Amino acid sequence: MTQDSKPGPANEPKTWSGRFSAPIAESVKIYTASVSFDRRLAEFDIQGSLAHAQMLSETGLLGAEDLKAIQAGMATILDEVRQGAFPWNLDDEDVHLNIERRLTALVGDAGKRLHTARSRNDQVATDIRLYLRHEIDRLQRLLAGVQEALLDLAEAHAATPMPGFTHLQVAQPVTFGHHLMAYVEMFGRDRERLADCRHRVNRLPLGAAALAGTSYPIRRERVAELLGFEALCLNSLDAVSDRDFAIEFCAAAALVMTHVSRLSEEFVLWMSPRYGFIRIGDAFCTGSSIMPQKRNPDVPELARGKTGRVTGHLVALLTLMKGQPLAYNKDNQEDKEPLFDTVDTVAATLEILAEMLRQITVHGDAMRRAAEEGFSTATDLADYLVKKGMPFRDAHEVVAQAVRLAEERQCDLAGLSLETLRGFSTLIGQDVYAVLTIEGSLASRNGIGGTAPDRVRAAIQAARLSLKR
Ligand code: ARG
Repeated sequence: MTQDSKPGPANEPKTWSGRFSAPIAESVKIYTASVSFDRRLAEFDIQGSLAHAQMLSETGLLGAEDLKAIQAGMATILDEVRQGAFPWNLDDEDVHLNIERRLTALVGDAGKRLHTARSRNDQVATDIRLYLRHEIDRLQRLLAGVQEALLDLAEAHAATPMPGFTHLQVAQPVTFGHHLMAYVEMFGRDRERLADCRHRVNRLPLGAAALAGTSYPIRRERVAELLGFEALCLNSLDAVSDRDFAIEFCAAAALVMTHVSRLSEEFVLWMSPRYGFIRIGDAFCTGSSIMPQKRNPDVPELARGKTGRVTGHLVALLTLMKGQPLAYNKDNQEDKEPLFDTVDTVAATLEILAEMLRQITVHGDAMRRAAEEGFSTATDLADYLVKKGMPFRDAHEVVAQAVRLAEERQCDLAGLSLETLRGFSTLIGQDVYAVLTIEGSLASRNGIGGTAPDRVRAAIQAARLSLKR
């Protein structure tokens, strides 16, 4: 238990203990309690209870005085929670019972009336949804922050050539800005996924009660309105039992981390002296305790590592759900820690990633050298021949021979004389050198989605606009 917890009042019966003849075993109490972690939901639990109480009073199920007492008590509790002064107690197994017990201690009978027409089953489902909705909005902002940092870096390097790779072999030149914009796209889709998931998170389970609905004439629509839910869960059994909204969120989060991990892997590679493409700021690297020369890219490595943990949480929740019969089962208490850790891990990772992106030095000369080394404009030569009338397959063959010769002579394609090139095909003229250069190759790929610097700048502008929306 936490520091500020203290043992429960002696002989205080459990909230649900009426039908039991023996007190709960200490080991069971410890094993089944969730308050050590679900206390994180406290603010959302209070929010949900206040809306429920207000609706109860509006429908005549709770007196005006009782409502006032509940509101005052909850204000005190919220304060205590925020100050770290709330008396968390393991005897009241979870956040819901802790708050209810405290409310009753503060305001008496009004506190005992709060649970009318409600169960912890619909209460906890509501709390998690309120929590997750809040966190999705925070993650959206953090993702936008990463996108902005990427856009700034991409803008500065919209025309900086680097080798584009397939199979990690030099393929064709691209610009560094274009490469970074690929990640802006990925994180953009991540944001779409979260926004879409939010609609299904943002539905109200409260009113489902334990599992079958309630006989009280409550107004669920009113509670939804008060809490900003866009719809009601329409089947009481489903409302209290399914956690698919949390699973869906974890799937979206795992994809966010997968994208972060790919970018991190590239940073690690690019920072190795074999590439030497970038330098990550000293503040984001660590040294070695034994090798004085080392600068290790710990941050991207850890981000890559933490991806496994988030993917693990997704699998944990899927596994948690798969064997559960309708409706609520205590298994569902296990949904919280993976969910919380997913949120914490993704948020911390996005925060540090955005910071790190602003601390990167780009070695454009090393990138260009690498782009020039791998015959990256070979495809451009083939395209040149096709435009002069040669069938593509023949052009492919001609260029392959030219590359072999250049390799023998240890020069690039542009290093072969016109006479030598014409030996491969008389279609080749002086204008060939324009396409054999990196700049020529880049500029020619100017269709939508291409790497031409102008096209990259346009893509950056469009992305900035959509970020503002
Ligand atoms: N602590 C529980 C959870 O996290 C709250 C719901 C408990 N409901 C029950 N019938 N035991 O799921």
